[in-house]
Amino acid sequence: MAKFYLTTPIYYVNDAPHVGHAYTTVTADAVCRWHRLLGDDVLFLTGTDEYGLKNSQAAEAQGVHPQLLADRNSERFRAAWDSLDIAYDDFIRTTEARHGNAVQAFLQVIYDNGDIERDTYQGLYCVACEAYYTPDELVDGNCPIHGRPVQLLTEENWFFRLSRYQQRLLDYFEAHPDAVIPPTRRNEVLGFIRQGLADISISRSSFDWGVPLPWDPAHVAWVWFDALPNYLTAAGYRTDSERFAHWWPADYHLVGKDILRFHAVYWPAMLMAAGLDPPRCVASHGWLLVSGEKMSKTRLNQIAPGDLVADFGSDATRYHLLREVTFGSDGDFSYEAMVARYNADLANNLGNLLSRVATIVATKCAGVGPPPRPQSPLASVAAEVYAATADGWGRLVPSDALEATWRLIREANAHLEANEPWKAEPGTAVDAVMGDALEALRIVAVLASPALPHAAADVWRRLGLPGSPVDQRLPAAAAWGGYPGGLPVEKGTPLFPRRK
Ligand code: MSP
Repeated sequence: MAKFYLTTPIYYVNDAPHVGHAYTTVTADAVCRWHRLLGDDVLFLTGTDEYGLKNSQAAEAQGVHPQLLADRNSERFRAAWDSLDIAYDDFIRTTEARHGNAVQAFLQVIYDNGDIERDTYQGLYCVACEAYYTPDELVDGNCPIHGRPVQLLTEENWFFRLSRYQQRLLDYFEAHPDAVIPPTRRNEVLGFIRQGLADISISRSSFDWGVPLPWDPAHVAWVWFDALPNYLTAAGYRTDSERFAHWWPADYHLVGKDILRFHAVYWPAMLMAAGLDPPRCVASHGWLLVSGEKMSKTRLNQIAPGDLVADFGSDATRYHLLREVTFGSDGDFSYEAMVARYNADLANNLGNLLSRVATIVATKCAGVGPPPRPQSPLASVAAEVYAATADGWGRLVPSDALEATWRLIREANAHLEANEPWKAEPGTAVDAVMGDALEALRIVAVLASPALPHAAADVWRRLGLPGSPVDQRLPAAAAWGGYPGGLPVEKGTPLFPRRK
C-alpha cells in the first residue's frame, strides 16, 4: 500500500475563511479522496497558522488576546471545512504544545549544525506578507502582493544561512524535475535561486507572540520558520520516529503562488539544514479572482464559503471550485458562472441521466435494474474515461479529471437518446440499454465521488447497490460489469434541481 501525505497551507487566523482558502482545501480533499479510492494510505493535513505579527496586530485591533482570536478564528476554519465535507486526517494549530516542541527541536538541530547565526539586518518589510523585499521587487514602492507600503526595519537578529544552500537547491531541482509543478512555477523558483540567495532573518525580539528560540528565549521564531515545520509536527517529528519515517517526506504541499518561494526555496533549504529530505512535490496554484482582483482579507472582496454552501449545497460548491479553475492558473469567480455550470453539468447532465434512468426502469423494468451487457458500446468509453480521470487526478488537475468523468455521463445520455427505450415495449432490448446506463451511472458514482461525496452516495443508494462509493477500490470498481442487476432502483427527487 502506497503512502500519500498531502498538506494544505495552514491559514492565518487574522480573519475568517474565504472562498480562495476553500479552493485550496477542496482541491486537497478531493485529491486525497481519490487516493483513498486507489487504496493508498492517506494522511491529509490542514490547520491554522496562529503566531506572528499579522495575527497579533489583528488581535490588538480587536482588543483581544491573540490566543483568543486564534481560538475563535481557527474554529471558523474548522466549521467552514465541516460544511464543505473536508475529510482531513489532522487539523494542526501552531499554538499547540506538540507543535511548539517540534519547532524548538527543529531550530535546535539547525543551530547545532551551524546554520543559524547572529547578525544585523536592515530591510523593507511587509507585515501582511511577514517578509522582507528588495527595492527592485516593489511595485510603485509598495509590496508586490498587497500593494501596501513597506517599512524600513533594522534588526539584530538570528539568521538562517540560506546563502549556503544555493547550489544544493539547484542540484536538487536539477535531479528532481517534478519537485515543483507546474513547470512555469518551477522556472520561477529556479530563476529566484539563480539570482542569488540572501540569508534570512528568522527571529523577532520586538514582540513575543511566537515560539521562543531554545538558545535565546528573548527572541521568538519568525512566523514562517514556525509555520513551515507544521508539516513535520503532524508526521511525528521528534515524537514518533516510526511514524515520521513512514510519512516523511510529504508527497504534496499544495500552495498558492504567493507562498511558493517559502515552500520551494526556504523550506527545502531548512530541511536540508536539519538533515531531512525536502518534500516530493510543491504544487502551486493560481488565485481565485473577483472582477480580476485576488480575493483577500486585505481587499475586502471575500466571499464566505458558508454562503455558497447555504445557497448551492456542499457538493455543488466543491464541484464548481474543482471544475471551473484549471489548477495552476488564475480563475475568475462569478456567481453567474457558478449557476450556469451547475445547471449544465449537475442538473442537466448528471441529474437528468439519473432521473431518466430511474423513470424508465420504473415504467419498463418494474423498478428492478437489469445487468449491463459485457459488449456494450459504453464499455470501451468507460475504460477510456477511467484512464483519463485517473490521469487528471494524478496530475493534480481536477478540472481535467472531472471533464473526463463527465464524458461518460454525456455518452450514457446519448446512448439513451439513440435507443429511445422510452418508446419501446418492455423486454430484452430495453433491459439491455437500461443495464448499460445503470452500469455507467455506477462507474460515474465512483469516479465523481471525490468531488461530490453526497451525490455519489445518493446515486449509489438509488441504484440499489450495497455499501457506498467510498468503500470501493480502484481500478476494480471502474471495470465494466460491476452492476449485478436485479436490484431495486429508486426514483426519488431531483438530485440537483435546476436553478433560475
Ligand atoms: N499562513 C500562511 C501559510 C503558511 S503554510 C506553512 C498563509 N496563510 S493565508 O491564509 O494568507 O493563505 C493561505 C493560502 O490561501 C495560500 O496558499 C494562498 O495562496 C491561498 N489563498 C488566499 N487567497 C486566495 C485566493 N484568492 N485564491 C486562491 N488561493 C488563495 O499564507
